[in-house]
Amino acid sequence: MLEQTNARRVETTWGSRVRLDSSNAAPVAPRDVHTSSFVVVANRLPVQQSHSSGEDWRPSPGGLASALTSVLQSRNGLWIGWLGGTAAASAPTDYEGIRIKAVAISPEEYSDFYLGFSNATLWPLYHDAIRAPTFHRKWWRAYQDINRRYAVAAAEAVAPEGTVWIHDYQLQLVPDMLRRMRPDVRIGFFMHIPFPPSELFMQLPWRREIINGLLGADLIGFQVPHAASNFSRTARRLVGVTGTDSTIQSDGRTVRVGAFPITVDTTQIINMTRDPKIRERAREIRRDLGNPEVVLLGVDRLDYTKGIQQRLSALSEMYADGQLHGGTHVIVQVAVPSRESDAHYDQERHNLEQVVSALNGDYGLVGSPVIHYLHQNLPFDELLALYLAADIMLVTPFRDGMNLVAKEYVACRTDLTGRLVLSEFAGAAAELRGAFMVNPHDLDGIKEAIGSALRAGPEEAKARMQRMRRRVLRHDVADWAQSFLLALQRGTSA
Ligand code: G6P
Repeated sequence: MLEQTNARRVETTWGSRVRLDSSNAAPVAPRDVHTSSFVVVANRLPVQQSHSSGEDWRPSPGGLASALTSVLQSRNGLWIGWLGGTAAASAPTDYEGIRIKAVAISPEEYSDFYLGFSNATLWPLYHDAIRAPTFHRKWWRAYQDINRRYAVAAAEAVAPEGTVWIHDYQLQLVPDMLRRMRPDVRIGFFMHIPFPPSELFMQLPWRREIINGLLGADLIGFQVPHAASNFSRTARRLVGVTGTDSTIQSDGRTVRVGAFPITVDTTQIINMTRDPKIRERAREIRRDLGNPEVVLLGVDRLDYTKGIQQRLSALSEMYADGQLHGGTHVIVQVAVPSRESDAHYDQERHNLEQVVSALNGDYGLVGSPVIHYLHQNLPFDELLALYLAADIMLVTPFRDGMNLVAKEYVACRTDLTGRLVLSEFAGAAAELRGAFMVNPHDLDGIKEAIGSALRAGPEEAKARMQRMRRRVLRHDVADWAQSFLLALQRGTSA
């Protein structure tokens, strides 16, 4: 193992000190009175602070929180993560029947670890360097410190020979750190975002440390096979491990690598879409939009990887060309606020809002705008009503690990109507072959795909939706978690 710091001393979450020695693994005994044999470690907890200060809690958004919540409930598990703020708050210790342990992050760490290394170094680098990644040694030190804090929290909380499941790019050093402290524990890691090809990954000054960090796991899961092989090839090239794309020999251990495409809670979505209140809300939305012939919908976190501006530029040209008409074709764009203190995200919002206002200025009618823009975090039932109200769903990220919006849209179209325009660079594209596929960098290509979706007859649209639904309904998110954990238990890669 190269480029590792020896004999580091670290501060634990609770102020005690633990010796971390990379040359001589020093086991840490479980310290919590209430240890658990199943521990999830993710940057975010399933609950978060409503505001940056105060003690007002609300559920964290996203399907992952609900999926892991049910897995943890059935295993009496513990979730270690961050509450999303930097103000001191007495965190809840229990959420929906699962135990939670909050890791505190100071304002400086928020800036260096969260906004910095996680979201201005790794996030753009892992998304095809759509924005230039920034490399700062200070951010890297904060990333190591916070990863260590999570590793120590896990080492102290997991019962002897228990299982720890670590999630996502913010915590890639935790597997190896935890293994050194607790060699008795079974460790799984799942990467929710893409893993870049070696040509890009090699830019990272701390590339070996990241690969060695991940290799501390027994099983490393990715969204798609391509990401898994990017990782394995880079590991062989960079740190001299041997093996195949699915089995790596590292430090006398076998590390399994595989693809475990995440999905949505299909049963919950189908049940919710049967709710007459949600169906009525969908009809009301269409009425409020002026009963247009076609509703086109985008739902994205406001992120530069999502290709929102490019998509709206394509739509704007379609209004200009006369392929779309104000009053007949109406767009709804939900842009969920995200990472707002980062300059790239601020710029993205600014640019996006200019495109939105130009669209309405150029093609809107009095009382009938062509685009309805919501910069809001909507409740899930309102999102489902929007999915039901939309004739065409537009999901055109430049790069995306999976994209659950695409799967949610497909899951809720129980009457087999609706058309999906999908980027070939979203992980979901491998499964949703019935979508109208686009290269999101190709403006004419986006226009053509939207045009094809508009022109497709009901039989073609139904056949496409049926094909996608067969795929999406095959598994739900609980099956995804079970298949990963089963592979971790069995020592297999899928
Ligand atoms: C992506 C990442 C998650 C992250 C989420 C929201 O889905 O894979 O790890 O939690 O974005 O981003 P945020 O920075 O608000 O946690």
